[in-house]
Amino acid sequence: MRIVVVGGAGTIGRRLVPALRSHDHEVVVAGRTSGDIHVDLTSRETIEALYREVGEIDGVVCIAAHGALDEFGTLTSDALYDNMQAKFFGQVDLVLTGQHYCTDGASFTLTSGIFADQPWPHVTGGGVISGALHSFVLSAAIELSPRMRINVISPTMVGDSTDAFAEHFPGMRPVPMDELVHHYLRSIEGEDTGRVIRAYG
Ligand SMILES: NC(=O)c1ccc[n+]([C@@H]2O[C@H](COP(=O)([O-])OP(=O)(O)OC[C@H]3O[C@@H](n4cnc5c(N)ncnc54)[C@H](OP(=O)(O)O)[C@@H]3O)[C@@H](O)[C@H]2O)c1
Repeated sequence: MRIVVVGGAGTIGRRLVPALRSHDHEVVVAGRTSGDIHVDLTSRETIEALYREVGEIDGVVCIAAHGALDEFGTLTSDALYDNMQAKFFGQVDLVLTGQHYCTDGASFTLTSGIFADQPWPHVTGGGVISGALHSFVLSAAIELSPRMRINVISPTMVGDSTDAFAEHFPGMRPVPMDELVHHYLRSIEGEDTGRVIRAYG
């Protein structure tokens, strides 16, 4: 399959992209400055340009753009909206635009996160983004069916991010990278659609 991985040069991407290549998939890595082709999830124009440039695609994976930490006491709806631009609206635009470019049988695999289900201090925005992504995928799956599939992987802190994130999320058990990669491969290569795949270790 020919697969675009937005954020493929990042922490999860550095594990997923080689795994996809080892399964004989052709992988195009996209990022704002990294990868083979450039796209900014906050810009619908660059998403459209990505699809026009890259040609036939059988799978789109997004593992890019985090929700920012926030301070609830000073949080505003404007700040929440800003926080949603790349990770929520960007992934939504990848699907809404991509449905017109991808081949029949193509799949979309998005990425959310554990804060959709588990509250934690300073992640109101992250929780809202991930919860909204879960709802989006449920609706999108029936709208895209039977032509295309869509799933979302919801990871807890991933094994390779423990050094960077453990101080923010004390006591959180990371999901092993090979287990996480397996979930992405199953979404891309399998038959599932409309699934929220919780990779909570
Ligand atoms: N790491 C974790 O523990 C963890 C846990 C739960 C959920 N997640 C979610 O999993 C996803 C990937 O996480 P990660 O840790 O692998 O991220 P990462 O290491 O920060 O890598 C993110 C990648 O996305 C690209 N990117 C960032 N903003 C972008 C934008 N606006 N448009 C296009 N590309 C963009 C970056 O490349 P450029 O700089 O070149 O754009 C980079 O390659 C994120 O949504 C994150 O919230 C991660």
